[in-house]
Amino acid sequence: MTYTKKTINPTMAIDFTDQVVLVTGAGAGLGYSCAVAFANAGAKLVVTDISREGLDKVVQELENSGTEVLGLLNDVTHSSDVNAMLEAIVRRFGRLDIAVNNAGIATPLQEFHEVSEAEFDRVMAVNLKGVWLCMQAEIRQMLKQGRGRIVNMASATSRNTYPNASPYVTSKFAVAGLTRTVAVEYANRDIRINAICPGNVATPLVVSLVDDLSVLAKKHAMNRLGTPEEVANGAMFLASDLSSFSTGSLLEVDGGWNAI
Ligand SMILES: NC(=O)c1ccc[n+]([C@@H]2O[C@H](COP(=O)([O-])OP(=O)(O)OC[C@H]3O[C@@H](n4cnc5c(N)ncnc54)[C@H](O)[C@@H]3O)[C@@H](O)[C@H]2O)c1
Repeated sequence: MTYTKKTINPTMAIDFTDQVVLVTGAGAGLGYSCAVAFANAGAKLVVTDISREGLDKVVQELENSGTEVLGLLNDVTHSSDVNAMLEAIVRRFGRLDIAVNNAGIATPLQEFHEVSEAEFDRVMAVNLKGVWLCMQAEIRQMLKQGRGRIVNMASATSRNTYPNASPYVTSKFAVAGLTRTVAVEYANRDIRINAICPGNVATPLVVSLVDDLSVLAKKHAMNRLGTPEEVANGAMFLASDLSSFSTGSLLEVDGGWNAI
């Protein structure tokens, strides 16, 4: 095969003009950076969050930058909210091209034997059941369209340990397994499903957990934290045609954490 400039054109492949992109938990942190990144690449955005304050902020910013945006206040742990979210998306835009299932929470660091059942349930409800419910609703719509792209926000701890964060690690291992097995189910129906495994980024979630971010930096081979933009770049890659032969993959954006 002869390669020409035309065969490989990454600039075209990360153009999301007029594509409808959903980002859950877009009111802060990595979800916010993903929403902004897709908007900058031309997408129409659906942003959701459980926090009214965070949601209003991202909607306002996207509108100010000229992006067509639908903001939805919702809780990914309730199927009624999630199904209403999909209905609202279809009502407004008629379709859903890309979904970034990002909403997630962390647990206070605690030894395993001390973790309460309520804490386990709380984390699993958002980090696992939330992704499960969103994927079901999204895939039902994507099947009608005959096409779709899903990016789940997993974690470097989807394949690695993080002592004293057992509920969180359990939920993120589960998201990896869910991503991979569901990806296989729809691989022949033009629905690609992948996950990003970020290392630590100084978002509100991380800052609320640790006092000294330099300790976290040492977990990464690059000896630094990631930036929200670096994670968003991974999401755009997985949602774009640049990753057209990837489904069920876990993309590490972790400064070499999992390579150590
Ligand atoms: N920051 C990191 O270092 C890091 C690393 C790996 C993975 N992640 C994952 O990335 C995702 C985003 O994390 P972040 O660091 O940006 O967190 P964050 O706390 O900064 O932002 C998360 C957003 O999700 C929203 N949210 C929480 N519960 C929700 C619910 N039930 N329904 C809808 N929205 C809800 C919050 O209100 C918030 O706006 C999470 O899934 C997290 O596990 C983060």
